[in-house]
Parts: sequence; C-alpha cells; structure tokens
Amino acid sequence: MKLICCNFKMNLLKKDIENYLNNINNKIEKERVIFFPSIPYIESFNKENYLVGSQNISFNEFGSITGDTSIHQLKELGITYTIIGHSERRKYFDDDKYISKKINLALNNNIKTILCIGELEKLSEEETNSFLKSEIDQAFLDNINLINENNLIIAYEPIWAIGSGVIPDNNCLNNTISFIKNYIKESYNLNIKVLYGGSVKLDNIDNLEKINIIDGYLIGGASLNPSDILSLQSKIK
Ligand code: PGA
Repeated sequence: MKLICCNFKMNLLKKDIENYLNNINNKIEKERVIFFPSIPYIESFNKENYLVGSQNISFNEFGSITGDTSIHQLKELGITYTIIGHSERRKYFDDDKYISKKINLALNNNIKTILCIGELEKLSEEETNSFLKSEIDQAFLDNINLINENNLIIAYEPIWAIGSGVIPDNNCLNNTISFIKNYIKESYNLNIKVLYGGSVKLDNIDNLEKINIIDGYLIGGASLNPSDILSLQSKIK
C-alpha cells in the first residue's frame, strides 16, 4: 500500500478548503492519504476521517520565536505527520542544522517525519548520489537513536522536477531510489520507505507506477484538485 502525501503549500483559502472537503467526502483512503494544508486549515480536517500533517515545525519547542509554530501547538491541532526539509524551505529558511533539530523534535514527540531530499539541478548519477548521501547523513547522524522504519520516511524530490512538469526517467528514478534505500540500509541498518515527489500528476502516474520500489508520492500541484487526487488514489496501488 503506497502513501499519498498531499502538499498544499501556501495555496487554498478557507472557502476552497470547504469545497475541497465537500468533494473528497468519504472517498479518501484514510490509512494512506495524508493532507498537509497550511496551518490555519489543519483544524478544518476532521481527524476521524483524515490523516493530517504540517508542512514544517519550529526548530524550538517553546519561547520567543516570532512567527513560528511549535510542535506542541501543532499536535494540539491534531497533526500526526510533518514534512521536514522541503526544498522550498531549505531555499529560504532551513539549513542542515535546523533540519536535524526539527527531526529530533518531531520524533521525540511521536510525529512521523517526511524528510525531503533532492538535488537542485540535473547531475550525473555519481554526483546525485553523493549529494543525497550528504543530505541523508546530515539528517541521520544526530538522530540515529530516534529514527526507525515507521517514524521516518524519505521523500526524494529532485528540485528541478518540482512544479516543472519534467520528471526523471524511470531508469534514473529506479537507480536513485535504490541508492537511497541501499545506502541507508548499509550505513544505518534501517529499511526506510522512499516516496517520489516532483510533478506527479495524472498523465505520468501510470508510468511512475511501473517502478516497483517507490513507496508512495509527495504531490503538490495535482493534490490541489480534489478530482485529480481521487483519480490518482485509484491509480496508485
Ligand atoms: P509538485 O510539488 O507536485 O507541484 O511538483 C511537489 C512538492 O514540492 O512537494
């Protein structure tokens, strides 16, 4: 059963969320579809029917950090997942040190983590692997006593594929995802699930589904449309 993570980013207003919920009503497979709306709308999702996560958490638990939202506040809104290290946050706010602290906080508070990794531009296989290896190590090294096969999932998102409509070919994707899984197994003795993210949509999902080792998808743009997400759900096995 593959996971389907719906990353709304900073899209949709209250009325759009209401329409969205009316459209997906009772049709979502709760055990494998996770919604990541903006913080003001986390409470709009009834947690009896939906799994909900945050797109980020603060690197600190409490205190004077204007504009941040703590893991405890987000837990009160009912999240069970969080995305950490999305490239759009790495670009403006987060470095490896903050990402490592956030993973620590999330896992210590029993919040499942979707850790995003991915290279900025198309690179050779060797360069891609060495870049990913470094992102994995920076996230894992200080948290290895907390990470297990159920509480952390990697989302491999080549940054050049996000929102661009261009995705890696199946052979490359298969090789990169195998590399990530094998590297984590060899270095940390963990079998970690790996999602693919970056321009996943109805017209490429059948092709992506041919890659057996993908454990699910992190979907941005296409997740904003309720009928698309329902069709994607029916195609993702
Ligand atoms: P996209 O976004 O599906 O719109 O490319 C994916 C993501 O950034 O998580």
